[in-house]
Amino acid sequence: MTADFPNLTVVDHPLVQHKLTWLRAEETNTDSFRNLLREVSQMLVYEATRDLPTTLQAIQTPVTAMQSPVISGKKLCLVSILRAGNGLLDGALSILPLARVGHIGLYRDPSTLEPVEYYFKVPSDMAERQVIVVDPMLATGNSAVAAIDRIKEHGCASIKLLCLLAAPEGVANMLKHHPDVPIVTAALDSHLNEHGYIVPGLGDAGDRIFGTL
Ligand code: URA
Repeated sequence: MTADFPNLTVVDHPLVQHKLTWLRAEETNTDSFRNLLREVSQMLVYEATRDLPTTLQAIQTPVTAMQSPVISGKKLCLVSILRAGNGLLDGALSILPLARVGHIGLYRDPSTLEPVEYYFKVPSDMAERQVIVVDPMLATGNSAVAAIDRIKEHGCASIKLLCLLAAPEGVANMLKHHPDVPIVTAALDSHLNEHGYIVPGLGDAGDRIFGTL
């Protein structure tokens, strides 16, 4: 958590910060960008799932019997905000292989920067699941707020947002509309520029993941 934003956790681990530097660098090619994003998303999921409840399971090691922790409680659902959110899914699913996956299609109207929904598909038992929304760039926060509005309409009470980079404007927007939703990110950047890009940022995350520059 930061002093200004009680809803924000910045993962300042050196491995995350090192990989983030190369994600930001403009010379990093699409292949490397995807691989780095996969690795960082695993580490962000690690942090986002830190408070999952566990229960003790009786097992037998080769040496003795013991009670050992296993994850219990609600099952998980990852929800990707298309299209850039899909860049975080691979890594997240490698850590959470049993998670279900929902998709929300939102694009930013370039003039208003407001989100417009064009796709929504989530598991039918969504309300019983703990949800982790994934989107690499929390810029204005309008897409994340709209996506979480829709997820809450489906009865979900336990939601987190996982993003690679956050702008203060987006974190403040989330705090205003969804103060109950913790955000996990690799960095809190400076501000948004006049085009709604995060500064210093890494450019358009979707373009860098899918090579559509
Ligand atoms: N979306 C992006 O892909 N990059 C930004 O900097 C802001 C929003």
